[in-house]
Amino acid sequence: MNTWKLTYRNFIPGNEPLREALTTLGNGYFGTRGAACESHASEIHYPGTYITGVYNKLPTKIFGKTIYNEDLVNCPNWLVFNYKINDGPWFSYLESKIMDYRVELNMNNGILTRRFRFKDNRGHITFVRHKRIVSMADPHIGSFCYTFTPENYSGKIMVRSGIDGEIKNEGIERYKELNNKHLKALSAGKFGKDGLYQQSRTTQGKIRISESIRTLFYEDNVQKYPKFKVIKNDKSYCSHEFSFNAKKGHHYNVEKLLSIYTSRDQGVPDDLKKAIEKVSQIENFNQVSRDHKAKWKAIWSRFDIEVTGDDFMQNVLRMHIFHLLQSASTHNEDIDAGMPARGLHGEAYRGHIFWDELYIFPFFNLHAPEITRAFLMYRYRRLEAAKAYAAMYGHKGAMFPWQSASTGEETTQAIHLNPLSGTWGPDYSFKQRHVSIAVAYNAWSYYYSTGDIDFLECYGAEIIVEVACFLSSITQYNKKTKRYEIKGVMGPDEYHEKYPDSEEGGLNNNAYTNIMAVWVIEKALLTLDHLLSKEASRALLLKTGIDGKELSRWRDIIHKMTVPISKNGIIHQFEGYMKLKELNWDKYREKSVQVCRIDRILKAEGKSPDEYKVSKQPDVLMLFYVLNMKELKFIFNQLGYRFGKNILKKNFDYYYPRTSHGSTLSIAVHSCITSLLNDNEKTMELFSIAMESDIHDIQGGSTNEGIHTGVMGATINIFLRVFAGLDVLEDRICIKPNLPEGWKSIKFQVRYKNIWFKFDINSSALKVKAEPMHKLTIRPSNVIPVVINKNVHKLHPEKTYTIIL
Ligand code: BGC
Repeated sequence: MNTWKLTYRNFIPGNEPLREALTTLGNGYFGTRGAACESHASEIHYPGTYITGVYNKLPTKIFGKTIYNEDLVNCPNWLVFNYKINDGPWFSYLESKIMDYRVELNMNNGILTRRFRFKDNRGHITFVRHKRIVSMADPHIGSFCYTFTPENYSGKIMVRSGIDGEIKNEGIERYKELNNKHLKALSAGKFGKDGLYQQSRTTQGKIRISESIRTLFYEDNVQKYPKFKVIKNDKSYCSHEFSFNAKKGHHYNVEKLLSIYTSRDQGVPDDLKKAIEKVSQIENFNQVSRDHKAKWKAIWSRFDIEVTGDDFMQNVLRMHIFHLLQSASTHNEDIDAGMPARGLHGEAYRGHIFWDELYIFPFFNLHAPEITRAFLMYRYRRLEAAKAYAAMYGHKGAMFPWQSASTGEETTQAIHLNPLSGTWGPDYSFKQRHVSIAVAYNAWSYYYSTGDIDFLECYGAEIIVEVACFLSSITQYNKKTKRYEIKGVMGPDEYHEKYPDSEEGGLNNNAYTNIMAVWVIEKALLTLDHLLSKEASRALLLKTGIDGKELSRWRDIIHKMTVPISKNGIIHQFEGYMKLKELNWDKYREKSVQVCRIDRILKAEGKSPDEYKVSKQPDVLMLFYVLNMKELKFIFNQLGYRFGKNILKKNFDYYYPRTSHGSTLSIAVHSCITSLLNDNEKTMELFSIAMESDIHDIQGGSTNEGIHTGVMGATINIFLRVFAGLDVLEDRICIKPNLPEGWKSIKFQVRYKNIWFKFDINSSALKVKAEPMHKLTIRPSNVIPVVINKNVHKLHPEKTYTIIL
């Protein structure tokens, strides 16, 4: 097995949507699904192109109400390409006999190749090969090279190449009733001898999108200059055609070069002019390919994780790294956009940004923290919106929306379709106030692992303090219990939206939210009291309007927050959880293969998951994923609760059997939890399932609509935390490897406070080398501490050490 490749050896129409998502190419700026270039949107194909941060909001009248939805816009399709032989019909996969079909995504160099032979109904056999690139070297460039080789005939081949701006967001069946035409065509036309352009504008946000292409032609690798005929040229669609006399056995290459700019790009006053200029400067596909490959080579030299002894794991780890880097790369540093939960790979969740960043950022923090910083700046720029959102509900501080898109306003839909029952119901998921906790947690973790005090002082501290302020403002003091409480929120488990007999959404004292609120407030105090300079701290208090009274309240909350917990150490997911009914899991497992979405099954039966002890994903257990035992024990004890020795085991045994894993995130988190319980076998079993989430689309159709960036980040995080045993402390990193059975060795590097640590580990020895990024500051006396299996080792820079394990 080639662990750098994803290979598909047959054309199965029903499998195309999944393969298109998994073979998406992207560079953080834009992504294009791996749809065949000869295809157009249909039940089989969906050639979507998405530009990060390009959203548009549309109203739809439904059930007598007008609802608004904001979508990551499917942009004009630059792939448009087709051909016909000897005046026959245009090529179609369904109407030709397809032979020797093979699609290969090479993740090592970021090139997607589709090759096959086909026989048309007149018996012409043609070998074709399509190589595609979305340039990692220049985020505004894409290209493909299409090669024809007539095998049993000589004849005329006519080729059409163009841009289609007559595009809607139609990738998700269940959104089809909603308005989906986000683009207004502005202009299209030709330039030079071989160029075409198309410019559109989003209907609401008025973002201009300009695409320009050139089509080049080569006969047996010698460039020819055919005469192009512009075929259709209205504002939304343009294409040109040319034909050539193909000789049996000869090779004919048609190259398509693309440039994309939008009016959001910095330093680009005229996006169309820039797109035309850029594409005109490209020499050919080979030039794009050369630069692109060099860039991927440099990326992998830092980001790769090598596993010997398990090819499947190796392959999927690389796939997860590859797709995360295609969804967000260092090009994002200059872009105002967040990390979409489904990448730039499809239209699920409308391209919105959730709390999933919490699963993804640890990977970026340890490899390219500038990407995390860019995403945190996306949040920082929306702090005003988060404060307005809090104020709308009568709260103080910053309340980030559950789903975020362009403005930072709440974009969670108000009603939700149950595909099983075909009915719409209210959607309370916006009550997941823990998303603000995740934003503060991410800002803190970024600072903690990079030491970027400049970020903390200028932006991070303000995020953390504003979120702490919000959490304090939704906290009420209960005179009876003499404790603080948070009411009316949802935890990460989305199945419980409200109390069964209540009309209002939200639950009281969700343990995860309450404990994490204490954690955030604690960090806000630490930042103000100890990390910022006196002046910076004072300025921040002045800016945020937080006074001494509020700070005293914070100090009180961290000692008196409510955590619903039984004497036996079971933490209640929320107050009242223990009174809910038990579900007969066996009955549902017998009836349905898809128990993971038990919420939909119950709703279709006229019941509600609110009535049962059934969770979509870890809620109480999530605490053990985000915080370490020491931190949790500290918080519990400070609050006056017992943190018994077996607390994790007890809560795992209680909640795990009551969890349906309706989110791909669920299994990944549980695999991390079982590792804390030292259950290696279960850890590996769950980790393997998490690794299959997207490659095998374990939720049956979900990956077709976009990858799950959260689970991709989580699995890499688990690799680093659990199998490599990496622990990032404030002043050093620690490593305590625990290689799964069958893994012979692992090799990876992480960047911690501007030092690259290179590890090469097998069951008997660990090799480590520390490479500071600022070579000039290295002095012979410098030593870098690393804790290996609890022993401190002092490393001299650039020297490789071998430690016997
Ligand atoms: C999960 C959420 C997640 C969202 C986006 C949902 O299915 O329950 O936790 O944030 O997907 O990935």
